[in-house]
Amino acid sequence: MGHPDQSADPTGSGQADTRHAPELIRLQAVLRAARFHGIDLDVRDFADEAGQTVPSIPALARWVEENGGTAQGMRLQWRDLVRLRDVPPVALMFADGSAGLMVGADDTNGVIWLVDPFASPDTPPVAVDELRLEGVWTGDVLLVRGRHDGGRKEDAVNFAWLRRMVLGERVLLRDVVIASMVMSVLAIFPPLIVMQVIDRVVNFHSMSTLVSLTGLVGVMAFYEVLLSYARREITLVMTTRLDTRISLAVFDRLLALPLEFFEREQAGNVIGRVSAIYKVRQFMTGRLLGTFLDMFTLLVVLPFLFWLSTTLACLTVVAAALIGGIILLAMPTVGRLVGRQIRAEMERSGALYETVAGIRTVKTLALEPVRREVWDEKTADVVSASLDAGRMSNWVATAVMPLDLFINRGIILIGAYLAITSTTSGMEAGALMAFMMLGGRVASPLVGMARLIDDLNEVRSALAEAGSVLNRPTETRALTTGLRPPVHGALAFSGVSFTYPGASTPALSDVTFSVPAGTMLGLVGRSGSGKSTITRLLQGVSRSYTGQLRLDGIELREINLTYLRRSCGVVLQDNFLFRGTIRDNIIAGRPGLTLEDVVRAARLAGAEEFIERMPAGFDTWIEEGSTNISGGQRQRLAIARAVISDPRLMILDEATSALDPESEAVVNANLRHLARGRTMVIVSHRLASLVACHQICVMDHGHVVDIGPHEDLLARCDIYRTLWTQQNQPAGGNDGGPPSVSHMHGDAA
Ligand SMILES: Nc1ncnc2c1ncn2[C@@H]1O[C@H](COP(=O)(O)OP(=O)(O)OP(=O)(O)O)[C@@H](O)[C@H]1O
Ligand SMILES: [Mg+2]
Repeated sequence: MGHPDQSADPTGSGQADTRHAPELIRLQAVLRAARFHGIDLDVRDFADEAGQTVPSIPALARWVEENGGTAQGMRLQWRDLVRLRDVPPVALMFADGSAGLMVGADDTNGVIWLVDPFASPDTPPVAVDELRLEGVWTGDVLLVRGRHDGGRKEDAVNFAWLRRMVLGERVLLRDVVIASMVMSVLAIFPPLIVMQVIDRVVNFHSMSTLVSLTGLVGVMAFYEVLLSYARREITLVMTTRLDTRISLAVFDRLLALPLEFFEREQAGNVIGRVSAIYKVRQFMTGRLLGTFLDMFTLLVVLPFLFWLSTTLACLTVVAAALIGGIILLAMPTVGRLVGRQIRAEMERSGALYETVAGIRTVKTLALEPVRREVWDEKTADVVSASLDAGRMSNWVATAVMPLDLFINRGIILIGAYLAITSTTSGMEAGALMAFMMLGGRVASPLVGMARLIDDLNEVRSALAEAGSVLNRPTETRALTTGLRPPVHGALAFSGVSFTYPGASTPALSDVTFSVPAGTMLGLVGRSGSGKSTITRLLQGVSRSYTGQLRLDGIELREINLTYLRRSCGVVLQDNFLFRGTIRDNIIAGRPGLTLEDVVRAARLAGAEEFIERMPAGFDTWIEEGSTNISGGQRQRLAIARAVISDPRLMILDEATSALDPESEAVVNANLRHLARGRTMVIVSHRLASLVACHQICVMDHGHVVDIGPHEDLLARCDIYRTLWTQQNQPAGGNDGGPPSVSHMHGDAA
């Protein structure tokens, strides 16, 4: 768009821009700030949500975040604002609903630099001081940034990824290393002091040496306490921060996975596998860091030991190396057993999850014994695997212990022997004691290294588990790129075929039909004929179809997925309501919606009357699993939730199947209202509720058998007529039970 000549900032100088509505200027300011970070926003995407109101900060932030950036709203004082020196463009919210784009600040001169959001990029910014800004600025700003991992979002979750995460805490890591190094050096002093005490104080009865040594011990103890406190504190902060970063990144990834993935995988299993990532984190900040730090100790302690006694030092190193060797040898077996234990635990938590998630079914079908049996079985697996793994570790520990004892106690005997036998290089008692105190420190880094290699295997498998979930192709590209055409709702299928991944027969084959915008389209057909599959394609849940599916003439796969789903209102047979008030559930977190919208949507969905009868009205709390409202009420809330954003395309997949005739009648009566001005796709087994549809599409085995209005189908489509007569048999005729669907193929009797 050309906005060539507006060089003055619109409001900082007090002159309102008359060419653009304030809210447009505000959007443009955010858009420009985002573009600075390489994020392309589309104004239509935003306007779609917020309707007519002035864009609020949360809505703007959401807009940025949904398109791959991060945004943070803040309320600032002038003095904070002028100090934001090196921050790239910041959107300043103005009282008239517009915004300015601050591109720089200069606190020595007390000015900030503003540009008009619509000005061309080479327009020079305008300096604005506190007084001029005060008149227009609300104090609110929106900071926009690229997401740190934005560009690498699709990076595989692997060691490199985690390493980047850990290195992201570089400063803390450095502090931990420094503290540890100093502590390593300090570690040498106690043995030195002991040495002095024994050799000088005890042997020569020197009180003055004792006094100065005591002072030294006191000072060192103080530093040691301080340092170890600091090291623990820093490690704690680092690990929690790391956990937060990992959690956020992992959850982002998980949410970006396509629905198809979650449908195929067991929820408990997914959770288990994703949480394996924490095992890796634990390893990196626990064992890996610990061993790394121990190595410093080794670097300091080892030369000291050799200085004390070469022979003893050599013996110690050999014994420690033997320990490492034993552990290395046992590693593969231990690794395998531990792997089995982890898998068994994962299986068990999967069973637990399934039972809790399906507790209604478990209780109502009295399946407790069955579930308990499953649990017992899994628990038995866990027990045997843990025992095996534990026993193996025990064996290793036992095998290593003599060597450990040798390092810690045996050495002193050899030292004593050396002291007695050799007169020239004999050790003094003090040196021997010092050696004993430090010898143990050689073993732990070596043992740690050996364990490290063991852990590496475990961690590699944990990473693989997490990766098997997180490294799947995500929808992120489709969610953030693609067209955002205005949606009217004309649908055109031409030669669409689709087979579910892993299925042998196609769920849809060569589906061809089209309906203009504003059509009320019914879908009927026996169970498994592909009705829901059609609705899934429309929502972009399954995108690997062949043929062409166009929405308003545009191939569906070219449309931005977020945009498509937001333009689409969907009500399923069983809808999930979140814990929260009725109002929250209907708004469902979409910004810019008010209670009026909620009431309007509830009215359209036929939910208003029952909501108003509730004690707290729209503020009534819905419990987990929506246990405190009826099924019909829940459906109507779901419909309200779907229509509140006024989508051009609505999909109702057996939305009324679970309702009693009365609630169904209420909803159906509202459907005609609802359908006004939008395309509706209604899947229903009850043909009576589809009679009003403009077009009814009859499906069978993934094919479209016929499409037309009710009367036409009744006249020419056998399958439809059969269904119709089955469902509308005069009551009392043959009372031999409910009409079965199985003889659908036959003609009407
Ligand atoms: N997630 C899935 N994975 C694999 N196959 C599937 C999946 N969902 C459906 N199918 C298969 O696709 C075919 C069409 O299923 P669809 O759900 O579209 O039927 P439907 O007409 O909606 O049936 P109903 O009336 O029972 O809801 C069926 O044969 C089904 O087995
Ligand atoms: Mg279905």
